[in-house]
Amino acid sequence: MCGIVGYVGNGQAAPFLLEGLSKLEYRGYDSAGIAVYDGQIVNVDKSVGRLAALREKIGKDMPQGTLGIGHTRWATHGRPSDRNAHPHADCSGDFVVVHNGIIENYLSLKEELIEKGHHFQSETDTEVVAHLIEDVYDGDFLSSVRKVLQRIEGSYSLVFMSKKHPDELICTKQDNPLVIGLGEGENFIASDIPAIIGRTRQTFIMADGEIATVKKDSIKITDRSGNVLKKKVFTVNWNAEAAEKGGYEHFMLKEIMEQPKAVRDTMRERITKDGSGIVMNELKWDKEYLKSFNKIYIVACGTAYHAGLVGKYYIEKLARILVEVDVASEFRYRDPIIDEKTLMLVVSQSGETSDTLAALKEAKRRGAKTLAVTNVVGSSIAREADAVLYTWAGPEIAVASTKAYTTQLILMFMLALYMAEILETQTPTRIKELIDLLKNIPGQIGETLSDTEPIKTFAKRYGFNEDVFYIGRSLDYDVALEGALKLKEVSYIHAEAYAAGELKHGTLALIVEGVPVIALATQKSVYEKTLSNIKEVKARDAVVIGIAADGDEELIKYVDHVITVPQTDELLIPLLTVVPLQLLAYYGAITRGCDVDKPRNLAKSVTVE
Ligand code: G6P
Repeated sequence: MCGIVGYVGNGQAAPFLLEGLSKLEYRGYDSAGIAVYDGQIVNVDKSVGRLAALREKIGKDMPQGTLGIGHTRWATHGRPSDRNAHPHADCSGDFVVVHNGIIENYLSLKEELIEKGHHFQSETDTEVVAHLIEDVYDGDFLSSVRKVLQRIEGSYSLVFMSKKHPDELICTKQDNPLVIGLGEGENFIASDIPAIIGRTRQTFIMADGEIATVKKDSIKITDRSGNVLKKKVFTVNWNAEAAEKGGYEHFMLKEIMEQPKAVRDTMRERITKDGSGIVMNELKWDKEYLKSFNKIYIVACGTAYHAGLVGKYYIEKLARILVEVDVASEFRYRDPIIDEKTLMLVVSQSGETSDTLAALKEAKRRGAKTLAVTNVVGSSIAREADAVLYTWAGPEIAVASTKAYTTQLILMFMLALYMAEILETQTPTRIKELIDLLKNIPGQIGETLSDTEPIKTFAKRYGFNEDVFYIGRSLDYDVALEGALKLKEVSYIHAEAYAAGELKHGTLALIVEGVPVIALATQKSVYEKTLSNIKEVKARDAVVIGIAADGDEELIKYVDHVITVPQTDELLIPLLTVVPLQLLAYYGAITRGCDVDKPRNLAKSVTVE
């Protein structure tokens, strides 16, 4: 994520920049910076840490000037540090940029620019944009920005500022949000509405490919070919709190809805151009070394542990390597069998969970190579591991993890494919086929999210039951575990997941008339067996909600309701089936009046044992 702001007007820029950034900290908070033009030079102030650290650094000497840009960072390329904080400048300091997103081809651009004599100060992808505009600058700000856009690939919202053009800012976007706030004698730019509603409610919501030249009393919007566009003013009527949640009532719902973009961002840069293979530049080991691992341990807590269970399935099925999965709080007390041929994969959204960190250190001590799957650049786990795969889901604020889970699944699926390629355990055709299907997943999650009405109805109908059971076999069982965890976390309903085949060994005794059972039935090899388990619970008068793939005509004959998700390979379907379960938990909690984003007794990041 990351939050960006810009100001041009009759007033002072810095107060708005800092105020705007404070409203965008939910988008990122590992470092922050502002650049203000004082009529002679562009003053840049940056600091690692939250915005408060930047405020402290600036102190009472607020930079003076009526043109400025600012940024609050959620690191992707380059760990959080003063140097990597935005804004970034070119060699001369004449051009300054802030950026939210990822410039995918930054490495080749950086090499080219270094060859031409440019000096880079940071490890970020963003800095190439500042040097690139310096390089292509032709005296016309807008046309130079257009030239930059022709060269960069990836996702971005960008604001450009130049001391050569002290009356204007230029901003543009691709796949990341950007709004312009319309004031009187001043205009504002921001990633998101919360940053500007303290100043104005009149906005332009920018679309992909649009470029705006923003002056204090005019805004010109063009497309990439230079055609002037007419845009409608959007009047914001949300309150400040709703605006921070993108208009959603809770962060949990916002984060559920963000999943199509989050998983797309996870995949970005990790598929070869021709779509036939996986790119994992972050893995430091050469292919021969990767081949030498004979066992993988996946260790994690909570939702990340559930993602690990799916990861085990992916790696074993595709790469044919033995995988053990363990909860971190158990792992290090069981004298685990680990040596230098073991790859230890730790999964942690926050990168700070103390049990997971301790397990990682223990595995290292015993000689394993360690790989972290995490969402937070520069977190303790990221720093401690030998290599890191970042999920790039953006900050997750709600205690109940949603987009972290789906992005962890994507990464582990890609890792499994990558290893399968190296170990030649799958044919190139099968790998290509799976990559093609993987690319459809963001859109298919979007489809799954497009109609929440049936789920709201089920939540209302069954939200007051004290017990809910989730059943499934194979990958469906792994997803059932996550569905049950979501429901108990946020709605305080007693929810249990069982491997459907295990029911008869005890749990069936709890199934009585009217007990809701959520039954997942998407795995072809065990489909018939799952059906017979469903019949077992129906025979005890349970109310069964089935979760199936589109086109399943059979399941409805045996259950009370069916929720379907789009068809894909059964390996990938957990990415879709988990979505209605997340929504069911969310709306269940709403029905019961629970505090969804801050469930009782739970914390987002557990840094105590
Ligand atoms: C807490 C959170 C869960 C999360 C777990 C592991 O219990 O409430 O949502 O799954 O910690 O957190 P991590 O940051 O390591 O993924």
